[in-house]
Amino acid sequence: MTEELSNQAATLVMLKTHLAQKNNWLDFASFMHHALFDPKYGYYMRDTYKFGSRGDFITAPEISDLFGRTIARQCAQILQMTGGGILELGGGSAVLGSDILLELDKMDCSLDEYLLFEPSPALTGRQKERIARLPPNIRSKVRWISELPKNFNGIIVANEVFDALPVHLLSLNANGWQERGIVLDNESLTWQDRPIEDERLYHAIDRLDVDSPYVTEVCLAANSLVNELSQSLDVGVILALDYGYEHPNYYHPDRRDGTLSCHYQHKVDSDPLERPGHKDITAHVDFSRLAHAAHDAGLEVAGYLSQADFLVNCGITDLLASFDPEQMDTYLPAASAAQKLLSPTLMGEMFKVISLTRGINEPLFGFSHGDRRHML
Ligand SMILES: C[S@@+](CC[C@H](N)C(=O)[O-])C[C@H]1O[C@@H](n2cnc3c(N)ncnc32)[C@H](O)[C@@H]1O
Repeated sequence: MTEELSNQAATLVMLKTHLAQKNNWLDFASFMHHALFDPKYGYYMRDTYKFGSRGDFITAPEISDLFGRTIARQCAQILQMTGGGILELGGGSAVLGSDILLELDKMDCSLDEYLLFEPSPALTGRQKERIARLPPNIRSKVRWISELPKNFNGIIVANEVFDALPVHLLSLNANGWQERGIVLDNESLTWQDRPIEDERLYHAIDRLDVDSPYVTEVCLAANSLVNELSQSLDVGVILALDYGYEHPNYYHPDRRDGTLSCHYQHKVDSDPLERPGHKDITAHVDFSRLAHAAHDAGLEVAGYLSQADFLVNCGITDLLASFDPEQMDTYLPAASAAQKLLSPTLMGEMFKVISLTRGINEPLFGFSHGDRRHML
């Protein structure tokens, strides 16, 4: 048996144990949590390549340092107002952290510390390797934390973190709305819908105006995370960058199968029950729900726009202009990366940026043009 096959068998045993504990019906959020974060078999907990060409998918920081360098400019403006540091959630392979730190250093921007909050010990190990390559004066600012800090001042950055949080699946059919979970049937994992028991899920879909049949996700974990971040933040800005939509677009008739997707070796599929633990499972972020959760948690929703608008507002085109077009070996990769990050048909429009603030009175220049808060 290959290593992957024996791992898959062991992952199935792990899931069967959880199913047995729940009378053979596991809500999808619990399934997704185990598939991604089981300490031994979860996708993010296993020490395999995930990001980049050797992994399963590419995130914006992995495309080019232009992404992190541009975000650093927004960070510099915020740090001038707040002092303090940067806290990055789910730092992946620490490429974004490295790029932000290097750019802030170039800009002579003072920063107390760069904190990384990462639930995966395997990814923490990779982050440590990456950070160790930075010059000593920069890497000495980096610290890994296992609990969110209290009274934090500065910026909290989360790139593609909210899409990795476990979601509940809800299905509308002739019986009305039901919750979709997983059962074991003839030794295979399969779907089964049940009446909704959790009031919060009822509340999340009771006013949705969609035609049956329809499947969608509700991310209760996003509300919890926003609450925890709000409790942690004294003065500063939470910058969340992710793919997702506002309500009218999230619950569009075209999305009647929901937004759940899996990533394995750069192929996208919609079947999380196949190969669990060995592929990434994600759902688009419902930015309207995120904004409401932030508001309820006492944060101000200070801006919401496309990734393209945010990066352009922060000066990505100035950074690109600093490359000499005569130097084709450096200019062409940078121009092509900028195209991927900004193009409406690639990442520019599907990805959004939201800023959630406390105690910030000046407008953030990253949100100066293209604000879409009216759509939330
Ligand atoms: C899709 S990866 C993105 C990695 C990186 N931010 C990037 O853009 O390349 C998701 C990251 O979020 C982390 N993560 C998942 N749930 C988290 C949580 N509740 N708090 C902090 N990080 C989390 C994962 O372990 C992983 O590092």
